Amino acid sequence: MDNKQKIAFITGVTGQDGAYLSEFLLKKGYIVHGLKRRSSLFNTDRIDHLYQDPHVNNRNFFLHYGDMTDSTNLIRLIKEIQPDEIYNLAAMSHVAVSFETPEYTGNADGLGTLRILDAVRLLGLEKKTRIYQASTSELYGKVQEVPQSETTPFYPRSPYAVAKMYAFWITVNYREAYGMYACNGILFNHESPIRGETFVTRKITRAVSRIALGLQDKFYLGNLDAKRDWGHAKDYVRMMWMILQAEEAEDWVIATGKTTAVRDFVRMSFAEVGVELDFKGEGVDEKGYVKACNNPEFQLEIGKEVLCVDPKYFRPTEVDLLIGDPTKARTKLGWECKYDLPALIKDMMQSDIKLMQKDQYLKDGGYNTLNYFE
Ligand code: NAP
Ligand code: GDD
Repeated sequence: MDNKQKIAFITGVTGQDGAYLSEFLLKKGYIVHGLKRRSSLFNTDRIDHLYQDPHVNNRNFFLHYGDMTDSTNLIRLIKEIQPDEIYNLAAMSHVAVSFETPEYTGNADGLGTLRILDAVRLLGLEKKTRIYQASTSELYGKVQEVPQSETTPFYPRSPYAVAKMYAFWITVNYREAYGMYACNGILFNHESPIRGETFVTRKITRAVSRIALGLQDKFYLGNLDAKRDWGHAKDYVRMMWMILQAEEAEDWVIATGKTTAVRDFVRMSFAEVGVELDFKGEGVDEKGYVKACNNPEFQLEIGKEVLCVDPKYFRPTEVDLLIGDPTKARTKLGWECKYDLPALIKDMMQSDIKLMQKDQYLKDGGYNTLNYFE
């Protein structure tokens, strides 16, 4: 890195990827500006450890209020910040919720991307500012090829994926029309201990931890047959940065190349606490039972029902199978992941067990202070 500190602007800084990316860029010596939404409660849990008091000197982490649906706000911020790199991570990112809020999702995820690209163009920053667009494997939807690579045709299956499809192509278009350095990272699912609680992996690791600790009896999921290519978010944010350091602006698939069913993610999460599961029944009648409990710390009764299917979690149109082919990123960018799926699940389970032990302590009549365990 040259002497002048690089400046990055991250939209979606309060999200899973925004938090890890901020940490990563700060360690690399960047000055990081993040866009956060106004909310009635604090929404900065994931980045509180990076927060710097506005009154101290030599700060390198700044937060700004804003929203992807507000062009004037984005133009003003980009003008003030003059970023070398923009990471556009902000989005209504929940596929199931996008069926409930399709217009808003189109506005924030689709047009929001246009607003960023056009702000850079309007401000004459086309040759200075590099842009990373958070594209997604959801674009492949009803997959036309297995595994999916940069050349696989798209077939989006949700308002979220359709909005992201607009964002993908408008990024390509601005690159071709105005010579901007703008890239799509087509990232497959990536998870972590700070994953949003309503995505399936975190829903599972939280529930399994609570069941093991005796805080909850069972939990409900939707489609257990869906298969995803799951990696660790820490590995994936490193790739976002590498994508913007490449000589040429291109689009990249980032994936592990392995796929696993939701049912097996459940099985592996229970295995982390020494519990073996048995699945019986089919479709909406399928249930998960405790077959064996090999960890004396967690006393689960053999035969206990711990998982049921609730069709309310089914999606109007489902994406059945995602598995990425990251050959291009591997060969041209040197992409490799440090975490495989067992390591990811271990990381998430260890973190959630610790988190839920706080709840257990309170339930058992402990002091009403969470700091006790910090
Ligand atoms: P996330 O945890 O849901 O974070 C989304 C971020 O966007 C949050 O900071 C959120 O703010 C912000 N946001 C939402 N709507 C906004 C709006 N209208 N204006 C400003 N900010 C807004 O998502 P993530 O997992 O970190 O994913 C980051 C990006 O990568 C998203 O674009 C997602 O669609 C995409 N992606 C994710 C994956 C994955 O597996 N994680 C895979 C492929 C692509 P609040 O905190 O206030 O809600
Ligand atoms: N959320 C959720 N909740 N999903 C469930 C449940 C449940 O109770 N039960 C089964 N599933 C299935 C979903 O139907 C889907 O097939 C799969 O688990 C994964 O769902 P999510 O974890 O919600 O993730 P996603 O694959 O729909 O979307 C995520 O990955 C995309 C990349 O492929 C999000 O992070 C998107 O923002 C991202 O683009």
